[in-house]
Amino acid sequence: MTEEIDKEAALAELAGVIKNCKKCAISQYRHNAVVGEGDPYSGIMFIGEAPGKNEDEQGRPFVGNAGKFLDTMLEAAGLSRESVYITNVIKTRPPENRDPAPDEIANCKTYLDRQIEIIKPKIIVTLGRYSMGMFLPGFSISRVHGQPYMKKDGICYMPMYHPAATLHQPGLREIAIKDMLKLPKLIELLKTGDLRPSKKVEPSAEKQIETVETNETAAAEEKMTSAASNMEEKNNKEEIQKSDFQMKLF
Ligand code: URA
Repeated sequence: MTEEIDKEAALAELAGVIKNCKKCAISQYRHNAVVGEGDPYSGIMFIGEAPGKNEDEQGRPFVGNAGKFLDTMLEAAGLSRESVYITNVIKTRPPENRDPAPDEIANCKTYLDRQIEIIKPKIIVTLGRYSMGMFLPGFSISRVHGQPYMKKDGICYMPMYHPAATLHQPGLREIAIKDMLKLPKLIELLKTGDLRPSKKVEPSAEKQIETVETNETAAAEEKMTSAASNMEEKNNKEEIQKSDFQMKLF
């Protein structure tokens, strides 16, 4: 049995469980649970927030206006929705598109964890703050978007703005596309093995989250690390600032 059959079978089995899930009260209002779709072998997972009206109707992620802009972002980077795997933090539409509630996020986490376990992505692109909050808690999207973080689980996390945010704030569109344009290089670096957890990150920084370094940036990093070590670590915000400083890879 090939790995391909295993992944597809495991995802299909999981989809069956998710579609019948009634852990949250919102399950009674949904037309379709939105499990996720795309290529589970690409090594890249995009994780949004929650299905909206169109997604609920069609049972597919990102098929409304936000999805159209996600397609544009992907296209700019030479990718397509079929070439990556796309899912959400929660699989059921919250009524009136309200924010997902903490218990809904907690209930659906089992499913997201299992998707990650099956797909074994090399890169997870988080779309928006709810998705980012699952993996990079305490971070601020406006500070860390477009900067890759290699965690100890071996997955490189790339936080990006949610495509829906660009619909309300057109100024974010260019930024979102610029961030997406970093993906091909990140993919290349992961393939060549030139991207690895930085050894020089101080243990207290980023709540054990390690930044990434490339051969190109190793020399610059020496300088940056000594500058960073002079910075006072008063609170989480300052830690992120320091990390930002170390993360200018592109
Ligand atoms: N917004 C999301 O976060 N996910 C979708 O699938 C659609 C809109």
